[in-house]
Amino acid sequence: MEKNNIIIKKETPTDYNIIPLLKERWSPRVFSDLPISEADLHTLFEAGRWAASSNNLQPWRIIWGVKGSKAYDRLLNCLDDFNQSWAKNAPVLLATMFKKTLPSGKENFHALHDLGLFMGNLTAQAQHMGIAVHHMAGINYKKAAEEFNIPDDFHVTTGVALGYYGGNPEVLPDDLKKMETQPERSRKPQEEFIFNGNFTDRAKI
Ligand SMILES: Cc1cc2nc3c(=O)[nH]c(=O)nc-3n(C[C@H](O)[C@H](O)[C@H](O)COP(=O)(O)O)c2cc1C
Repeated sequence: MEKNNIIIKKETPTDYNIIPLLKERWSPRVFSDLPISEADLHTLFEAGRWAASSNNLQPWRIIWGVKGSKAYDRLLNCLDDFNQSWAKNAPVLLATMFKKTLPSGKENFHALHDLGLFMGNLTAQAQHMGIAVHHMAGINYKKAAEEFNIPDDFHVTTGVALGYYGGNPEVLPDDLKKMETQPERSRKPQEEFIFNGNFTDRAKI
């Protein structure tokens, strides 16, 4: 393992007790130098594979690349500048996408939901293995579609950076270092988004 490897644990003030796997997950921007093996990666994809999906259509698709490979460099190049500035240190990058249509040719309104469940499974499996998953909306989906020959019927949704928790926050620019070392995670209170009856828009955002 590299020098200055710091594993940051974040304070997560839950209102009810949840399983440690969920409580301890967070989205870092530095990672340990420890490589993720192909077998480990396929374990993560296997966890995703067994997610529920509407009509078992499994509309998810994933492109992956390991640092040092051509696929990795091509994925990195599709991220926006902000995400490239830190994700370039991650040992593995992914692009996620979903098939937009049903076998009938009509729109599959639940495909994005299913991809989310896939990534939820993958993220939980990764957490169990000590691997951090940082999802990124900041990917140029048109560029990715061109770069990887993705047909029009698929929508590129996110880039994802993966790596074992660790690494040195000192390598980050000051603003990101501050976020990385912020001790506490936060969430809206349940009253803002959980309703036992009529919908009430109490959320501030
Ligand atoms: C769909 C999605 C898109 C995201 N996009 C980005 C991104 O482009 N860049 C980034 O640095 N973080 C991104 N994030 C990470 C979120 O900012 C992070 O999950 C959120 O602040 C909560 O922090 P936590 O995951 O550490 O609990 C994204 C997360 C999700 C789920």
